[in-house]
Amino acid sequence: MSKTNILAIETSCDETAAAVAVERGSDRISWEILSSVIASQVEIHREWGGVVPELASRQHLRDICGVVERALQESSTELGQLDAVAVTQGPGLVGSLLVGVSFAKALAGALARPLVPVHHLVGHIESLFLCHPDLPLPAVVLVVSGGHTSLYYLPQAGTYRLVGRTRDDAAGEAFDKVAKLLGLPYPGGPVIDRISKEGDEQAIKFPVARITHADRSAAPPTVLPPGLSSNHAGRMDFSFSGLKTAVARYLYRRNNGDSNSISQNELADICASFQRAVVDALLDRAFETSRRFNACSLGIAGGVSANSRLRELAIDRGRQEGLPVVLPTLHLSTDNAAMIAAAGLRRLRAGVTAGLDLNAEASLAL
Ligand code: KG4
Ligand code: ZN
Repeated sequence: MSKTNILAIETSCDETAAAVAVERGSDRISWEILSSVIASQVEIHREWGGVVPELASRQHLRDICGVVERALQESSTELGQLDAVAVTQGPGLVGSLLVGVSFAKALAGALARPLVPVHHLVGHIESLFLCHPDLPLPAVVLVVSGGHTSLYYLPQAGTYRLVGRTRDDAAGEAFDKVAKLLGLPYPGGPVIDRISKEGDEQAIKFPVARITHADRSAAPPTVLPPGLSSNHAGRMDFSFSGLKTAVARYLYRRNNGDSNSISQNELADICASFQRAVVDALLDRAFETSRRFNACSLGIAGGVSANSRLRELAIDRGRQEGLPVVLPTLHLSTDNAAMIAAAGLRRLRAGVTAGLDLNAEASLAL
């Protein structure tokens, strides 16, 4: 039985991560994660209310050797036992990406092993296959993170077709920015998630934009379900900047924008109502797209998929509509290298490798 060991490195934003995974057999996916190490920079960036790119790249430089060494140790793998090195090529912060890409190139070159470039969002999508190797296909996958909110159609494993995306803010970005308006620490998503548990999600009716027109400035979609004209294409898009403004206006009307004079109960109501508006917008669009594409399952991946209310409502709605909903474990929801290892193994199997002239790409397209 063939066996492939891969080391994966992820440094696209503010987490330095490395993982070792093994693929056993060749007929069906049989990936096993042997180790997955993450050094988070959250404490460094919290002071500034968001990720400071220059600080992030410098911290990646400090952490990368230790993180990779630990991933090797925890998996009891020697460098010589690696068959390939995978790395996130983009999208992300270019200074951060460069640290991982340079490290991976040096290691692959020194070991004379193939270098496998991975798209960060493909990593998030493949995190679903890591948890559910038999994910029913075709599937629709919602990738919802700090930088992206996009819907992909997967006719088969390894093929990802963009069918919807946010026109402005990503959902995670909206969580982070609304948290800032409310005087809550970075990253806002987990904090709003926690505070919302004490609040009434029906207390405030925040509006959610419902896009009904195609984006005239965007390239036409690459794939449409049968019977859907490109005029309808925009209906699978999202928009969150208006919701963020609605929260800002609510605070302003309430007390001239001063979040300090809000009681804990009201804060919890604002958080819960905002969270419910985001979750409804995400799920309405994701289920509608799944129906249009006759998908056999709906996957939800990326940092915001860690949201407890999103997980709960997605599973409930999936049961009601008879559509299996799959989510990664919490460890695999936010940025990690195990998902990059999974994506790397699939690409390696497809024969995709890069030369040592590989460069980091901040806006890498999928
Ligand atoms: O995937 P990720 O770790 O990094 C990117 O690729 O962007 O996602 C980070 C985002 C942040 O905006 C963070 O606030 C959000 O995911 N997030 C959450 C939760 N945990 C992380 N949003 C809502 N609820 C959560 N529990
Ligand atoms: Zn991510």
